[in-house]
Amino acid sequence: LANGLGITPPMGWNSWNHFSCKIDEKMIRETADALVSTGLAKLGYHYVNIDDCWAELNRDDKGNLVAKKSTFPSGIKTLADYVHSKGLKLGIYSDAGYLTCSKTMPGSLGHEKQDAKTFASWGIDYLKYDNCNNDGSKPTIRYPVMTRALMRTGRSIFFSLCEWGDLHPALWGAKVGNSWRTTNDISDNWESMVSRADMNEVYADLARPGGWNDPDMLEVGNGGMTKDEYISHFSIWAISKAPLLLGCDVRNTTKETMEIIGNKEVIAINQDSLGVQARKVRMEGDIEVWAGPLSDYRTVVLLFNRGPQRYVITAYWDDIGIPPNTVVEARDLWQHETLKTRFVGSLTATTNSHTCKMYVLTPTMS
Ligand code: DGJ
Repeated sequence: LANGLGITPPMGWNSWNHFSCKIDEKMIRETADALVSTGLAKLGYHYVNIDDCWAELNRDDKGNLVAKKSTFPSGIKTLADYVHSKGLKLGIYSDAGYLTCSKTMPGSLGHEKQDAKTFASWGIDYLKYDNCNNDGSKPTIRYPVMTRALMRTGRSIFFSLCEWGDLHPALWGAKVGNSWRTTNDISDNWESMVSRADMNEVYADLARPGGWNDPDMLEVGNGGMTKDEYISHFSIWAISKAPLLLGCDVRNTTKETMEIIGNKEVIAINQDSLGVQARKVRMEGDIEVWAGPLSDYRTVVLLFNRGPQRYVITAYWDDIGIPPNTVVEARDLWQHETLKTRFVGSLTATTNSHTCKMYVLTPTMS
């Protein structure tokens, strides 16, 4: 969407994966504080996104959405002011239907103009727009109504389409939003994570600055996968140019979680200015090679072991799009070291079960 936003994939936090409906303004404020105090904000995690369940079931007598009095007594505008005072941005959630998925609050169908105005007046920076409880009409009819309503507010609001199956949003999302879901909901386990990665990969060619494929939010730090599995999760989301929206409780992050979500070198791949999503370039049983171009003639390559045992994996220049005879230097983004050997033609490494090796290959001048 040409609204100047999402030139690189959005980064931040969202309440759903960890808290679902158990949200309140205190927790959102503490999350904003934590993003700053942990240093995550400095790394680029700027959006603080409230998901479903923030509003009263009934609109006020003028038809406006109202924040839930028991959990958001100060109102969303006050919360937005607080989040902005920390140098962060506030995101909110609505639905292109009559009720949101939780059915605890109204959706925006038929109220698009009014709700967009409300969001803008509160200082909202990001809208996630779900697809539950709609009238059965096509999302390609319902979603652009909100796009236009947001446009008319004159405020730049990142528009995240959460329509994940009715009508392949990747095929029409670029004109309507800044990101679009390519999968149904992720859960905090290995099978769910890798299948989301696979479903999202299919649409790689459709991602570009201003519009990104969204395989759903991160589960890193929620406890359902091993450290190695979370490293694979974060690596694949990074190279897939997926939104990096943390889904854990950032007020209580462990050192282990911080090492993953705070890996500057991996974040830099996600935020690379070229904005090209990596693809699977070779698959052999449990072994996969994913690769994609980066700015300045560099290439990111992921050697991914999906299986139960150790494997030696080789990435060939032919597969990953590097001209033959090109000599490269390889930087290991998880070990944080540049390998002493130079490589030409291929690069081979050993990978343990459910792990990946992630390298940036830079052509050498020699
Ligand atoms: C479905 C979405 O896919 C989730 O991310 C979350 O927003 C829930 N709805 C909220 O009800």
